[in-house]
Amino acid sequence: MTPDELHDGFARAFAAARPTHRVRAPGRVNLIGEHVDYNELPVLPMALQLAVHVLVAPRDDATVRLANAQPRYGPREFALAPTLEPSPAGDWVNYAKAAAQLVVRDYGATRGADLFVASDLPPAAGLASSSALVVALALALCAANALAPQPLEFAARLAAAERFVGTNSGGMDQAIALNARAGHVCRIEFAPLRVETLPAPANWRFVVAHSGVEAHKAAGAREHYNARRADCESALAQLLSSAELRGAPRSYRGLLEHFGAERLAWIAERNLSGRSLARARHQFSEFARVARARRCLVAGDFEGFGAELDASHASLRDDFEVSCAQLDALAEAARASGAVGARLTGAGFGGCIVALVQASDAERLKSGLRERFYARGPSREHEFVLVAEPGAGAQVSAL
Ligand code: GLA
Repeated sequence: MTPDELHDGFARAFAAARPTHRVRAPGRVNLIGEHVDYNELPVLPMALQLAVHVLVAPRDDATVRLANAQPRYGPREFALAPTLEPSPAGDWVNYAKAAAQLVVRDYGATRGADLFVASDLPPAAGLASSSALVVALALALCAANALAPQPLEFAARLAAAERFVGTNSGGMDQAIALNARAGHVCRIEFAPLRVETLPAPANWRFVVAHSGVEAHKAAGAREHYNARRADCESALAQLLSSAELRGAPRSYRGLLEHFGAERLAWIAERNLSGRSLARARHQFSEFARVARARRCLVAGDFEGFGAELDASHASLRDDFEVSCAQLDALAEAARASGAVGARLTGAGFGGCIVALVQASDAERLKSGLRERFYARGPSREHEFVLVAEPGAGAQVSAL
């Protein structure tokens, strides 16, 4: 979306108003550390060049008026208040209400705004378009109220605020959207939120490709996501009730820091079974993979990083059960087309994969995916392949 298109869209939606600020909040691709952020285990994402954009015109009253460049998201209006009634599940106004509630409650915002939204991020693709929207709208309301929140604190609060839409998400997406650094991958730790920026190796390319299956977090995928979280909690409770772990730390993170991933996996094998064992095993193995992947990134160990991607996909498919046939096939097609490793990225149940290639092989990978995946099935119209450029965090510019 060009600045001109954005301004034209704003003028069509809100004839009398003049925007004073422009906000940009990026989506992300998570390289590794999947379905672990809600257990406060570290993750390794980077921001994308694709983002949600908002033009902001502050108002003199408490009304928030919303318009969207996409006709399928119709205009909406509500008044700022510390407690808002959610609209029916799936309505995009809930993302704005989530943002508004936080900015009123925690930062004392009183002025509403006319907000025009445009996004270059595909929705339901595992690229955190929803969190980018919440972050962009929250920053827009802050701009309208002359507030400049501290990014780390704001990210942690926004993660909690976004649960208003009904998904019990972790804090990765808001953290990366607000704290990313261009040219860098971020290692994010939670509670307290900490971001370590690591240069993305110059000759590595992370390629994002869509499986053709839309994973709607606001609809069906939300229940699956929340169910995985609940599985993790019940596995933890079972594990902590075992005699071997009497007196041990009471969180995944505490246990991992105390025992290490390997020993914990061994303890889990003896005390858990079935689904609980599988879910816990993913937490432990993914924690170890994130640590190894970080070391590979710093050392420039391309093959090593690729192997961690493949192992993460296998664990998400077999132990965490968040993959699907199309994601598996797409990851396989990426490996067959020159990727050194590939895995589903984001919550799964559809959406995208991320694959690692040498910069010189990125084009070969793209054409390989076309031949081996998109040309072969109903996914042709969903062809979406992006060579990710590690982007900067959210920005607010005065116009
Ligand atoms: C979604 C959530 C994140 C994270 C991922 C899975 O994107 O919003 O918090 O849990 O799924 O890693």
